Amino acid sequence: MASAPGTPRHVAIIMDGNGRWATSKGWPRLVGHRKGAERVKEVVRAAPDLGIEYLTIYAFSTENWKRSTEEVLGIMGLFARYIQREAKALSAEGVRMRFVGDRARLDQKLQDLMAWIEAQTAGNSRLNLTVAINYGGRDELMRATRRIAERVAAGELSPGDITEGTVDAALDSADLPDPDLVIRTSGETRVSNFLLWQAAYAEFEFTPVLWPDFTPEVLAEILSRFGDRDRRFGGV
Ligand code: FPP
Repeated sequence: MASAPGTPRHVAIIMDGNGRWATSKGWPRLVGHRKGAERVKEVVRAAPDLGIEYLTIYAFSTENWKRSTEEVLGIMGLFARYIQREAKALSAEGVRMRFVGDRARLDQKLQDLMAWIEAQTAGNSRLNLTVAINYGGRDELMRATRRIAERVAAGELSPGDITEGTVDAALDSADLPDPDLVIRTSGETRVSNFLLWQAAYAEFEFTPVLWPDFTPEVLAEILSRFGDRDRRFGGV
């Protein structure tokens, strides 16, 4: 479905505040992540009817390894469970699921599940869901630079022929359009290494709502405000 005028085609979300949500209720942080995973399901289900074609969510950053082993393993377990339990629903809803980030450090079983769901949903096109796992914008640009340098070293490419398109194509997000809107929850107003290259012209929305409280209604309200924005892409 084509986006309606004023509707962002590609929405990217920094899902923040799971830990604070749980702690404020006296619960372990992982309870917040569990509730966060439920919100992911709801938002994925609602996105196509809101006119969104591409939804990219920041689930685990290259910096998140600094958390306790218990929390890291708990979050990784949620990813595996989401893939296993949602596979049927994703296909039924026409969702194509992909990942960005460096997979090499992830558990082999999780890597296999990621490759499996990508293949399983490759023919779907109602919604393109991209989950960023072990993702960092700088890390992605560094890996892209290596790929380009390897092509130069192999004599396939000369440095003078490197264009923005060459960089785009070497990124994990090569097949995705740039995000039109980046949303961050929980009141923090940082970009935290998310889609540094791709978000060059994106609009940003910061909401105080914590991710476990982020409903499709909150998303719809943010999108209704996006329609009023005048995006000039550097022009006048
Ligand atoms: C940020 O909140 C959240 C994360 C680092 C983990 C995101 C994971 C999920 C939403 C669950 C599973 C996702 C999928 C795709 C199934 P935080 O822990 O940084 O919150 P805080 O800033 O309040 O501590």
